Amino acid sequence: MKTKINQLLQEVDAFVINSKERLEQFRLHFLSKKGVIPALFNDFKLVAPDERKTMGMLLNELKNHAQEKLKAAQETLDTPDGKHTKGIDITLPAGRFKGGRHPISIVRREINSIFERLGYVISEGPEIEDDFHNFSALNFPPEHPARDMQDTFFIQKDPDVALRTHTSSVQVRVMEQGKLPVRIIAPGRVFRNEAISARAHCIFHQIEGLYVDKDVSFADLKQTLFYFAQEFFGPETKIRFRPSYFPFTETSAEMDVSCNICGGEGCNICKYSGWVEILGCGMVDPNVLEACGIDSNTYTGFAFGMGIERIALVKYQINDLRLFFENDLRFLEQFESL
Ligand code: DAH
Repeated sequence: MKTKINQLLQEVDAFVINSKERLEQFRLHFLSKKGVIPALFNDFKLVAPDERKTMGMLLNELKNHAQEKLKAAQETLDTPDGKHTKGIDITLPAGRFKGGRHPISIVRREINSIFERLGYVISEGPEIEDDFHNFSALNFPPEHPARDMQDTFFIQKDPDVALRTHTSSVQVRVMEQGKLPVRIIAPGRVFRNEAISARAHCIFHQIEGLYVDKDVSFADLKQTLFYFAQEFFGPETKIRFRPSYFPFTETSAEMDVSCNICGGEGCNICKYSGWVEILGCGMVDPNVLEACGIDSNTYTGFAFGMGIERIALVKYQINDLRLFFENDLRFLEQFESL
């Protein structure tokens, strides 16, 4: 009987199941009531009593082996292309959603590349900052409201350690290294203790720009940002500057671009003004240069800062900033990028 069992084991292994017909043949031949394995079980009563235990075990192994092969073959033939057995079939066509970049990443990369073409280098700074880099060196007076608990997330109630409220802190980090001239952009995450709404979030992204050299003027600032606006929003885009105030720039301005949706005619995106505000900018305040160890009699510079979410809202005509943070696939799959 042992020889017979071994022989059948080999036959089971050698049997090729590549179709539903072969599957049925296998079942009939080995496992059906009239199959060869149940027949062996019938012969079991002829086995000498002292061999029954071992033979019983071997017989059961044979039966299990054949049943497992049948089951595996069944599963294979049930999968759509019939080639793979268990787990994920990586040869199947992908689902309807192609992986892609987040719209904030798409916009950040596009802005980065425009400034890189102008010779700007990307810089980074820490998200947890001290008061000096986030405020003091940037000429914020001690009682400035932005330092207030209501705006700033402090770390462990330490008034000197906080989540940076803007990427302008990277300006200070770069300038204090003292390698001049400086021409950097600094993309990154910033944090403000604000109520979340369609127009504001407590975490968002900015890109900071800084150019410091001898004889840098406001005309350079204008030309640089004009180039950026046309590259980003299209060659028809116009820009305008409005006077503004930031502690770290003097003079300070805000820049608007002509609304790329209505071309300046007036629509709900530009609130019927024909213009959308996209960034703050100005000439670096001499106090800031000095705080970073740069001689303000020899060097001048300009700086600008923009919110990536805000630019993405304008670019994609989106009216609720929270969509960028929810990661709803129905939203994300509408964006394509290289
Ligand atoms: N840091 C400013 C903000 O978060 C943005 C800004 C304005 C940056 C003017 C600048 C600038 O570099 O010159 O609102």
